[in-house]
Amino acid sequence: YPSNPQMGDGSILERTNCRAKGGAAGFKVAILGAAGGIGQPLAMLMKMNPLVSVLHLYDVVNAPGVTADISHMDTGAVVRGFLGQSELEGALTGMDLVIIPAGIPRKPGMTRDDLFKINAGIVRTLCEGIAKCCPNAIVNLISNPVNSTVPIAAEVFKKAGTYDPKKLLGVTSLDVVRANTFVAEVLGLDPREVEVPVVGGHAGVTILPLLSQVKPPCSFTHEETEYLTKRIQDGGTEVVEAKKGAGSATLSMAYAAVKFADVCLKGLRGDAGVVACAFVASQVTELPFFASKVRLGRTGAEEVYQLGPLNEYERIGLEKAKKELAESIQKGISFIRN
Ligand code: NAD
Ligand code: LMR
Repeated sequence: YPSNPQMGDGSILERTNCRAKGGAAGFKVAILGAAGGIGQPLAMLMKMNPLVSVLHLYDVVNAPGVTADISHMDTGAVVRGFLGQSELEGALTGMDLVIIPAGIPRKPGMTRDDLFKINAGIVRTLCEGIAKCCPNAIVNLISNPVNSTVPIAAEVFKKAGTYDPKKLLGVTSLDVVRANTFVAEVLGLDPREVEVPVVGGHAGVTILPLLSQVKPPCSFTHEETEYLTKRIQDGGTEVVEAKKGAGSATLSMAYAAVKFADVCLKGLRGDAGVVACAFVASQVTELPFFASKVRLGRTGAEEVYQLGPLNEYERIGLEKAKKELAESIQKGISFIRN
């Protein structure tokens, strides 16, 4: 037996290859940044997803260790590890879904935009690889600042001639997960029964929870609305401060990313009525990208829903969100064009 059969340093057992091929019912998923704070629990949870037949774990450090560890789980997906730029092509070739949590996280006192300098280049390189090796894959982009990294990815794909706006999704599911949790707390409900649409983007005031559209229908006092909106917008900062320099949300993010990846895979499978919030190319506002509810199908985000009726508080919030979003989107576009 090879010392590390999942890393391709020997002939991986014939039977394992058969199992990977035989997983015709399942999808091939790559995680880029798989050894990180989000990447590791995300890899574990994706290995538990019965819709996944092949799981590729790519990172610039520690991919062999994480791969060996995850590969011992007795679930269906075949796991393979890929280490460093020279193995990026192998990691991406043939993938149906690519999830990207690669990049540095915030420390207390930083904004998500402070991560742009480093993460913009990382996202560019990874998306160049996707354009080359799996141009038809659905991309779930987690790396911050999402409001800029999604436009960066779009520009890279445009340059390569592979851009399909339906296939590029900025992951905002953590905002929805937080909103469901905090709203359920206020209402005294089980969070699993609560659905809060969160639109706009993924940073500060661009995160706009639509509390007037919560399911089950309910109403909030002005104080509750202010408290909930602020808590949802500052959810990331709450975790960054609690971790005191040791990073940002990882476990709740992995949970939210898996929830979102699962709806993407169900859409790919052809399930009906699969809807989730995501930051996508959009005509819902005058901005080229915006987060709102989308319907996932065989080709990605097949329908982008309008925002629906907003109350006065939300209309004011929307104007603030659009102002900041416009700048972040432009910053991402300029990074590739100039
Ligand atoms: P982390 O530092 O723990 O892990 C990041 C991983 O990326 C590391 O393993 C690192 O080696 C890897 N990496 C760096 N450069 C790479 C490259 N070129 N190719 C492949 N991998 C590379 O960070 P984390 O806590 O996992 O956070 C990752 C990113 O996710 C951060 O940008 C963070 O801000 C963002 N994030 C987004 C959300 C969201 O809601 N969208 C939520 C939480 C965190
Ligand atoms: C989050 O919302 O938790 C992430 O965007 C990480 C961060 O920097 O807050």
